Amino acid sequence: MSLQRRRFIQSIILSGGALTLSDIFEDVNENIGSDHSLKGYSLGKNIKYLNHASIGTCPKDVQTAFKACIEKCEENPARYIWGPEWDEARTKVHIQLATFLNCGTEKLAITHNTTEGINQIAQGLDLEKGDEVVFSNLKHAGASICFDHYSKIRGISVRKIEVSVDDAVHWSQSDCVDFHTSQLKDRTKLLVFPHIDNMIGYKHPVKAISEKARQLGVKYIAVDAAQSIGMIPVDLNELGVDFYSGSPHKWLQSPKGLGLFYVRKEVQQSCAPMWVTWGQNRWKDTAQIYEDYGTRDLPTVLALGHALQYHKKASWENRTQTYKELREKAQSLCSDKVQWYAPTNWENGSSLFSIKVEGDCIEIASQLSQEGFIVRGFSQGFIRISPNLMNTSTEIEKLFEAIDNLI
Ligand SMILES: Cc1ncc(COP(=O)(O)O)c(C=O)c1O
Repeated sequence: MSLQRRRFIQSIILSGGALTLSDIFEDVNENIGSDHSLKGYSLGKNIKYLNHASIGTCPKDVQTAFKACIEKCEENPARYIWGPEWDEARTKVHIQLATFLNCGTEKLAITHNTTEGINQIAQGLDLEKGDEVVFSNLKHAGASICFDHYSKIRGISVRKIEVSVDDAVHWSQSDCVDFHTSQLKDRTKLLVFPHIDNMIGYKHPVKAISEKARQLGVKYIAVDAAQSIGMIPVDLNELGVDFYSGSPHKWLQSPKGLGLFYVRKEVQQSCAPMWVTWGQNRWKDTAQIYEDYGTRDLPTVLALGHALQYHKKASWENRTQTYKELREKAQSLCSDKVQWYAPTNWENGSSLFSIKVEGDCIEIASQLSQEGFIVRGFSQGFIRISPNLMNTSTEIEKLFEAIDNLI
């Protein structure tokens, strides 16, 4: 957004003037996303933010729109949260999100995070006593704990298939398909796996795993999309899965506390919603039955539309090119002391990658954060780096220098 436009929006807000929906939505969208460099963010002085896999940064342009929505809402909260005023804007965001993921709006719910969608499956899917749910050790707790919990209550069984992470970094795409499908049993009804895992950033071949698992009799396929939404293009019509649950507050850089949950039309009747509220009646026969119809933070939901708009300003080609350059820079700086710990190429890997170093990696990450480098240390002996578009090769170089000085 140009400085002039930002000043215009802010002056309306500050003067208490009538900021119309189109001021907030159309005008901001027109001008959003011109600056993908570090200047376009609110990062603290000296912060080199390389941890989008934990939680994303929100661009200033999106923040401006978000603040405008909050200001507007606070003029008369009951009107905006419960009145029809923002129905159109909300519907628009829903359409934008469905278009972004290439699926119909009737298959998509706006939730609060990835964990919520996975919980809906663990609690509501029509699994019977003895039916089995399978996931691998490359899963995140957010996509597994709920199954452990409901297995005790519902009598379903949960089986974790194990791969050594040291081996998974070398997987080809067909190794990954074979790993997931060779261990299925007759009673396996649901297979859950991440599109991109949160340790080494392995990009799972979703369609191939899903197709083979179905041929082998698995009834439902659920994908944890926490790390894929916004980082790689996703075409839900093409992937052919039943459930896809993600968090736009990571790579898509939306305000925090927003999730999306795709549920294939044919399985909506087989998965009862977790929330039981009035909205389920109004939206029956669509995935919006999975939305929470208690009080919602609507400014956050509306600002998702602005985050999508911001995202669109960089093409997938440019985005991928930047990610590849940053990870190649990191790869080139690895040595015997600091070892690459992720798939070696972009086909299998992503902008989420790790390095292995000697020592307590949680402590090393904590010391790095004191120098302004925000990364995540894992107790298993590696440090995860997850840069987004605004990061630079120089930041990666400086990070490696800082690591070298610490080990
Ligand atoms: C692969 C994966 N799944 C699920 C989650 C949980 O995401 P959320 O807290 O947004 O529900 C994360 C968070 O880092 C993750 O990396």
